Amino acid sequence: MRIIVTGGSGFIGYHLADYLSNNRKNEVTVIDNHERGEPDEMFKALIAKPNVIFLNQDMTRKDFYNELSGRYDCIYHLAAINGTKNFYERPYDVMRVNILSLMNMLEWCNTENCGAFMFTSSSEAYAGTVTQNPGMYIPTKETIPLSVTDVMNPRWSYGGSKITGELLTVNYCRTHNISFRIIRYHNIYGVRMGYDHVLPEFFRRIHERVNPFPVYGGEETRAFCAVEDAVMATEAVMLSQKCSGEIVHIGNSSQEMKIIDLLKLVLKIAGYNPEIKILPAPEGCVMRRCPDTGKLYELTGFRAMVTPEQALPEMYRWYEERYKEREKLS
Ligand SMILES: NC(=O)c1ccc[n+]([C@@H]2O[C@H](COP(=O)([O-])OP(=O)(O)OC[C@H]3O[C@@H](n4cnc5c(N)ncnc54)[C@H](O)[C@@H]3O)[C@@H](O)[C@H]2O)c1
Repeated sequence: MRIIVTGGSGFIGYHLADYLSNNRKNEVTVIDNHERGEPDEMFKALIAKPNVIFLNQDMTRKDFYNELSGRYDCIYHLAAINGTKNFYERPYDVMRVNILSLMNMLEWCNTENCGAFMFTSSSEAYAGTVTQNPGMYIPTKETIPLSVTDVMNPRWSYGGSKITGELLTVNYCRTHNISFRIIRYHNIYGVRMGYDHVLPEFFRRIHERVNPFPVYGGEETRAFCAVEDAVMATEAVMLSQKCSGEIVHIGNSSQEMKIIDLLKLVLKIAGYNPEIKILPAPEGCVMRRCPDTGKLYELTGFRAMVTPEQALPEMYRWYEERYKEREKLS
């Protein structure tokens, strides 16, 4: 198959491109401009594979699409500006890049006749609905109404871009008869996920032997899904004809846990026993997030299997090495 993975130097895009290119019959074209994903050793090894092509391009620029030629069977569109800090500090960039790169890609898909297109949305597209209706919609099905609860709050730049992206994908693809899928990822974790998320932040504090060890809130729950499961689910959705024209939640609903319990598990793995200091939860924090993954199972037969107990020891070692390297360089 000829495949495009956009955002392939980012967290999930890298793991997806690596997984898909392990099948030597696939030719995988990775597109990214390193806005967020780094050209580190792992990424260099990925693009050194004989069946991987890397295009270092800004997808908001329309002229670059001339470099793509011929028919591609599958387009996985993951490129986006993500990251909570960006939602607040660069809300217009978040919206411009997320919406424009998608529109350019969709319009290219039509002219070149792509096989199937996938847009990656997020649980942020419905976070407002869950916050305004405590106790309802959990586990969350794909049919939940999407919402932006406050246009004045820059936080909604990202969720708003994902809602817009879903609307653009459905309406463009239906108009031009392109087979499409929309997936919504839920709390994916694994090595190379950057340094801004809760788990890398816990690993950093463990490395620095922070004591007392602060945790903000702690009672809120998330269902953490290992990236190895997420990429297999993503391919399963792409390859299933039953998923054409559908929205599918990807996550691990069997692993919903409180952040405080996640911290205790991580501390146990690291063999570190500090005093835990509970601080107020960040404002607007969603108390429960857990996808209903019944549709994913029904349409593809896929169920996430990897538990945090299985995945976190390797992830801890990986981050510990990176923090040690950073310390040497500073
Ligand atoms: N990680 C999660 O748990 C999660 C949850 C929900 C949704 N998502 C969505 O899944 C997708 C992948 O997420 P991720 O965590 O890997 O994010 P990421 O930030 O690690 O990767 C996104 C990649 O897109 C690239 N990019 C940004 N602007 C670009 C541009 N103009 N041209 C080309 N490339 C550009 C970045 O450089 C980055 O490498 C994103 O669309 C994200 O919104 C992720």
